[in-house]
Amino acid sequence: MPFALTEQRERELDDILTRYPTKMAACIPALHLCQDQNGWVSEDVIMYVSTRLDLPPSHVKGVVTFYTLFNQEPVGKHQVWVCRTLPCALRGGLDVLHQCEKKLGIKPGETTADGMVTLRTAECLASCGTAPMMQVDKAYYENLTSERVDEILARLKEA
Ligand code: FES
Repeated sequence: MPFALTEQRERELDDILTRYPTKMAACIPALHLCQDQNGWVSEDVIMYVSTRLDLPPSHVKGVVTFYTLFNQEPVGKHQVWVCRTLPCALRGGLDVLHQCEKKLGIKPGETTADGMVTLRTAECLASCGTAPMMQVDKAYYENLTSERVDEILARLKEA
């Protein structure tokens, strides 16, 4: 069955389209809306956005493959992004990553067996002043300590 937005999200997309000068300019927010519903950007989602915005599928695919925030395959219910860029690395970012790998039992790019968490690494997430940091779904966790990482991951498991 081809991908389709829910009625409510269709209305949101209509609203988004009123805020941009061209349909092409709304490609990124349209993809986010679809990903929020579907969890990832499948080929069906690409075709949907292509049709809805009157864009060639190759254009939509180019956007999806350029931006790492678009999931090109199914992911866990929650996504943990650990910043690995220099300012975070200098303040223990790699220790945070190793702690996440150990606690979750997975490597970056993998999803836990229960489908709950996907672990990722990210380049600078623009929070260098509060390094080391990581992003869980849409929330930032900053000035991380080993204890704080344990708490965050434990809360994810409970959720
Ligand atoms: S280097 Fe980690 S947020 Fe900038």
